[in-house]
Amino acid sequence: METGRRRWQRTHGCGELRLGHVGQDVVLNGWVHRRRDHGGLIFIDLRDRSGIVQVVFNPQVDAAAYEAADGLRNEYVVSIRGRVRRRVPGAENPQLPTGEIEVDGMAVAVLSRAKPLPFSLDGRAEVDEAVRLRYRPLDLRRPAMQRIAILRHRVAMAVRTFLDREGFLEIETPILTRSTPEGARDYLVPSRVHPGKFFALPQSPQLFKQLLMVAGMERYFQIARCFRDEDLRADRQPEFTQIDAEMSFVDVDDVLDVMERLIVHVFREAAGIELPTPFPRLSYDEAIDRYGSDKPDLRFGMELADVSSAVAGSGFQVFDRALSAGGRVKALTVPGGAAMSRREIDQLVELAIQWGAKGLAWIAVHEDGVRSPIAKFFEPQAMDGLLRAAGAGKGDLVLLAADRRETAAEILGRFRLRLGRELFRPDPMQFACAWIVDWPLLQRNAETGRLEPANHPFTAPVDEDIPLLSTDPERVRAKAYDLVVNGYELGGGSIRIHRRDLQETVFRTIGLSGEEAADKFGFLLEAFEYGAPPHGGIAFGLDRLVMLLAGTDNIRDVIAFPKTQNASCLLTGAPSAVSEEQLRELHIRVR
Ligand code: AMO
Ligand code: AMP
Repeated sequence: METGRRRWQRTHGCGELRLGHVGQDVVLNGWVHRRRDHGGLIFIDLRDRSGIVQVVFNPQVDAAAYEAADGLRNEYVVSIRGRVRRRVPGAENPQLPTGEIEVDGMAVAVLSRAKPLPFSLDGRAEVDEAVRLRYRPLDLRRPAMQRIAILRHRVAMAVRTFLDREGFLEIETPILTRSTPEGARDYLVPSRVHPGKFFALPQSPQLFKQLLMVAGMERYFQIARCFRDEDLRADRQPEFTQIDAEMSFVDVDDVLDVMERLIVHVFREAAGIELPTPFPRLSYDEAIDRYGSDKPDLRFGMELADVSSAVAGSGFQVFDRALSAGGRVKALTVPGGAAMSRREIDQLVELAIQWGAKGLAWIAVHEDGVRSPIAKFFEPQAMDGLLRAAGAGKGDLVLLAADRRETAAEILGRFRLRLGRELFRPDPMQFACAWIVDWPLLQRNAETGRLEPANHPFTAPVDEDIPLLSTDPERVRAKAYDLVVNGYELGGGSIRIHRRDLQETVFRTIGLSGEEAADKFGFLLEAFEYGAPPHGGIAFGLDRLVMLLAGTDNIRDVIAFPKTQNASCLLTGAPSAVSEEQLRELHIRVR
């Protein structure tokens, strides 16, 4: 005799059933997605991870089963025995992969009941995200969320398969560790055993992966959790996942070659998308000058122009002053933008000022001439020259910013993104990848005036620029690279310094004293003295990669249990208060 469990054990996934199964007896396990009562017939949409199938209960077929189905409610967990049959002509549902068949319900076992849900799972009503996060296990039942979970798994599998084939070893690095230098605030964990001392959660496995190269592992990767206590945005979480990799005996081209093939493989295997190769390479300067961003969205043109020489000597003080201070006047031409109302244009000016611009000049090119607050400074010929330099024609709007080269470009770059995306509506499932290379090694912090690593302090300078470290450090280029996709920074990395003396020089240049360097990174410096191979690597944001492939711009959609914008977990209520007892053990007093 069959045991009870065997009797109700599933034979098929709901979403797998097709015409080929017609006539078969099946057992299905899942959730009641929807129950409809149609004059004597009960329809149950039964859902499991594989999909949804319609089950019909007819009192003429099986009175007891019909009776049982009558008691079912949404989200009850059930096992259903039945027979697959072709739907009657006209009743097919082309929206459902199982829409050509249905199951004649012959018996139902309720495995668990459900209270009415706090929100409906059918995806038709907009549900407040706070409610979804509070009831995350229910939210994750929604087919759209399950598809993302499956996609994320496929991405991780594709990464592992590819990197394994290329000779990378997956090695875990500590979570309880010392502060690592990615530039965000650390999450700290107090030590019970060492009063007053703290572990830091890693902002990335950076130091450990370099030490693994010193250890002769040659090729390392890890799907690594990273922790950064920073201000959150739509594409940032305090706890996120990197595809982290490091290689020995390589230079920039070697890393980019393997990593470009990795990304192509992942897009193909996990999402069936063929990326055009090779990915274009842009220098950092070119990206800023042409797109006003170090992570340009290359799905549309609308490039910035430098109109400095066309406006030189115009007598417009704002421009003249910027130019004589070594700055630039940059222009962005908005196709068809002259049709904007004066109010809309004023709003752009206000926005520019909110973004830190000193102002925003504009020229609307109409059929009957130009309209512009700065028209009076330009003779007709000079105006023509300016429009030509900006690449503007009739019907266009030119936005002009005069400032330091990077500031002017960045302000217009933000307008390019905002107005360009409205205008060209780029397809989220079309992917424009590019490597941004030749970054500066160091940047001067505008507030403190101090030199800081543009990336992290282990990045190697370009060989011929090393002498500039002592004379003109801001001009030193780095062997660093970022992968940008559709305006997102998907990944970043560099060739590293592998000699103690050069590493110490860089530490000194960024104002880290020998003592501080020895205290924080002594273990790295020391390791470099025992034979360190040249090495370099990269880390991609796994969450961001899945976001792109899933076509969402909310990072929380691709993380099973994410934090809110203010870094809390609505499901578990973390972070939470702890007992006096725990605090005492940790030698901590809360102020
Ligand atoms: P970086 O700090 O550029 O480099 O991080 C690499 C990639 O990780 C992703 N990322 C994030 N994703 C979600 N939320 C966050 N808060 C977040 N911060 C970063 C981005 C980013 O491109 N150790 C170096 C890598 C290296 O040099 O090899 C590092 O961590 O997609
Ligand atoms: P003002 O001389 O301040 O009245 O400015 C005249 C016009 O120049 C206004 O439209 C300002 O928005 C614009 N403007 C001011 N500063 C800048 C700047 N740095 N770059 C571009 N336009 C500016």
